[in-house]
Amino acid sequence: MTSFQKKEHARQEAFEAIWESQINAVFADVAATYDKANDYASLGLLKSLRRRFIATIDVEPGQRVLDVCAGTNVVGIELLKKQPQLDVYAVDRSDAMQQVGKQRATRQGFDIKGRICDVHQLPFPDNHFDVVTLQYATRHLRVIDVFTEINRVLKHGGKFYHFDMLRPANKFIENAYCIYLKGCLKTISWAIHSGPDAVACCDYFVDAIRLFYSTEELSRLLSDLGFYDVRGRSLLGGTVAMHRACKA
Ligand SMILES: C[S@@+](CC[C@H](N)C(=O)[O-])C[C@H]1O[C@@H](n2cnc3c(N)ncnc32)[C@H](O)[C@@H]1O
Repeated sequence: MTSFQKKEHARQEAFEAIWESQINAVFADVAATYDKANDYASLGLLKSLRRRFIATIDVEPGQRVLDVCAGTNVVGIELLKKQPQLDVYAVDRSDAMQQVGKQRATRQGFDIKGRICDVHQLPFPDNHFDVVTLQYATRHLRVIDVFTEINRVLKHGGKFYHFDMLRPANKFIENAYCIYLKGCLKTISWAIHSGPDAVACCDYFVDAIRLFYSTEELSRLLSDLGFYDVRGRSLLGGTVAMHRACKA
């Protein structure tokens, strides 16, 4: 077993029950306030980080793009603002998040083709997309399985863009960050009157960071899975990172 397989095994053992039974209820609970809550929690930082992420994504007119774990379609909408002649698909397991996302896209005059599914099996043929994006969801997934699926649906030479909160490589930063995050999540869930599922998951969200990958580990994992020209950019002390990886 490789070290990455061992890590995935540990993550699965620790969190599978939550992934299976609670995550969907949490996102159904917060769907209507999700975007606002993110802005509060990050003190507006997330918006500017997202702008930076979108700026790194190369898109050409006519390309087919898939946003995995699309939630409320924030990434798809920003990509269509950048290049309106894209064919954008979104996949997510949460009907509630996708309903909010569909309304947001339609209101702004964009068409995003949403599919409700578990992203461990993508309902698309091999070599189908020019670009695949995944933002802020990988902690809730079996990473090797989903990245392998993403590799499968990408065309040869297609690009995968990933942006997420990661585990800081520095232990001191990791500890400080987790204390901050826990306080922040509890305050936000109180402020937006989250339901019991979302409140109960505050500890999970922090534990999931502690068992997650650092920027450098995620780069190595992508390379091990067959992606080439992998570039990882660590930001804010390694608490978040953007990766780009190409399909061979
Ligand atoms: C934190 S939200 C991120 C949404 C969006 N990418 C963004 O940046 O705002 C995580 C999303 O992942 C979705 N998700 C989690 N596990 C999933 C799974 N196994 N299959 C499909 N979607 C999943 C949730 O439903 C939720 O919409």
